[in-house]
Amino acid sequence: MASSILTETPELNYTEPSDYFNPEAFTALVENRRSSRLYTDEKVPEEIIHKCLDLALLAPNSSNMQPWEFYWVRSEEKRKKLNAYCLDQNAAKTAPEIIVAVARRDTWKRNAKLMLEEFGKQDEEVPKAATAYYKKLAPLAYNQGFLGMFGMIKRVAFNVMAINKPMVRQPKSISDMRVWSNKSTALACENLMLAFRAYGYDTCPMEGLDQRRVRKLLNLPYGKAEVCMAISVGKRADNGIYGPRIRFDRELFVKEV
Ligand SMILES: Cc1cc2nc3c(=O)[nH]c(=O)nc-3n(C[C@H](O)[C@H](O)[C@H](O)COP(=O)(O)O)c2cc1C
Repeated sequence: MASSILTETPELNYTEPSDYFNPEAFTALVENRRSSRLYTDEKVPEEIIHKCLDLALLAPNSSNMQPWEFYWVRSEEKRKKLNAYCLDQNAAKTAPEIIVAVARRDTWKRNAKLMLEEFGKQDEEVPKAATAYYKKLAPLAYNQGFLGMFGMIKRVAFNVMAINKPMVRQPKSISDMRVWSNKSTALACENLMLAFRAYGYDTCPMEGLDQRRVRKLLNLPYGKAEVCMAISVGKRADNGIYGPRIRFDRELFVKEV
């Protein structure tokens, strides 16, 4: 059965060392990342931007379908428009660079094929269950059909099948696919922001923007792609962080059950 890749241990001849740990460095990095609203004029070297984008792409993501795209806006003309579409926020207009993270709810088909192609290139035989996952189960899970009609059928089917046993119940609609693609894209955004901090640069994630105009600026297909957030990048100005970090009582958020 296709889902057995999730429940059965495949016979593999593969190990990866897990001997890296550096909690102090990670803590410092996370604590040091702040949203910067004002930047200096200092340029961000191209190679650092590429490196950080590469690190963003290493984020965990649903079914390894990598439902994201990152648009590094380099054209001056586009950038001017983007500043305006980011509502002329200081965090946008003073930044040397802006990268727009886009969640793609439609690229899973292409990416499932790419995954199967990658499997074909492996020296070791890939477990049949893994191949079946991308050939059969993923299309079943992610396809919502014309106007989401297949999703509606799945919704009924999932509910019936779940009467007596635990069942995955999503994604069964286009809005579920929006959540699905945005979840993974947001994780990559955090990788990107932490990566820039690791290289000594600052960022500000922005959803205060005109979604529709940014989508048109980037020629994104309607109904398939949406702007997850824009991320400005640069060196924080001395007055770029507007105040000490505020987080509420952890008991509001952390539950031991
Ligand atoms: C999805 C998202 C959207 C955000 N949108 C904006 C924005 O449009 N403009 C802005 O100045 N900050 C924006 N922020 C930054 C938050 O205000 C900031 O992360 C929060 O106040 C916590 O501060 P810190 O990032 O310095 O820890 C956004 C953050 C996230 C995660």
